[in-house]
Amino acid sequence: MSSIEVSPIAGALGAEIHGVDLSQPLDDGTLAQVRKAFADHVVIFFRDQKITPDQHLAFGAHFGEFDIHRFAAGLPDHPEVLPVIKEADDQGGNFGGLWHSDVTFYEKPALGSILYALDAPAYGGDTMFSSQYLAYETLSDGMKEMLDGMTAMHSAKRVYGNQGTSINRYGPQVKSMEIRTGDDAEAEMEHPVVRYIPESGRRCLFVNPVYTIRFAGWTEEESKPLLDFLCTHAVRPEHTCRFHWETGSVALWDNRAAQHYALNDYHGQRREMHRVTIVGERPMSIGDGERAKAA
Ligand code: SIN
Repeated sequence: MSSIEVSPIAGALGAEIHGVDLSQPLDDGTLAQVRKAFADHVVIFFRDQKITPDQHLAFGAHFGEFDIHRFAAGLPDHPEVLPVIKEADDQGGNFGGLWHSDVTFYEKPALGSILYALDAPAYGGDTMFSSQYLAYETLSDGMKEMLDGMTAMHSAKRVYGNQGTSINRYGPQVKSMEIRTGDDAEAEMEHPVVRYIPESGRRCLFVNPVYTIRFAGWTEEESKPLLDFLCTHAVRPEHTCRFHWETGSVALWDNRAAQHYALNDYHGQRREMHRVTIVGERPMSIGDGERAKAA
């Protein structure tokens, strides 16, 4: 078993891992150290990797089953690998260019995502991450008490629905990604506002500005002021880290306890990534967590 080196990149979350070659099968000892670093730091980064889609999937398989994105096409021969590409001459937006966590509109949102940089811009195109553990833990006791029992509705409608932002963002002018919109994006899914993470025994805030559309039983108008406050608080600078990609970098993040934001500041340069997304469980509320602990 080799010993890996774990170097935090910020106080809130994020660590670079050295001494792991993801193109090779990982022995049990190395995998246990990677799992611990992932649990401790919420997002972990590897440098100087060279992996095929099969090797990418082999690493991902240690964490669970794969999601095939409902609205963005995967590679033709590996549908579980989602190409995230912006060509140098693409005008307009980028994929993931707002704070969010992946596919929270599913009944079982993603546990984690593994993003691999095949072609990183010389500058720009960083990804920011924000700890949703800290987002929760830094709220007042009164706010925590109110939120602990609340649920919220998540939906893909604002992005992939019939009036969704993808219609303009990924119209005929953007050839690099195949994104579809449709009626099936209009559905809503209810999740706890505060989520219990069984492995850490900690609570995290589980709302995001892209997919959380309102609190259950509240109108969108009533929900907006509180959602705006929470979504702003969730990504305060001191809750975040920022990762600069090089070709060959890999990030593995916990979608349950982190939001992320892909910066669109590399106009005129190409950026090509491959994303593998791991299916998670139904989010546990605080009540579910208490019952699981008592059982
Ligand atoms: C994503 O939201 O999955 C894309 C992140 C990135 O391209 O940095």
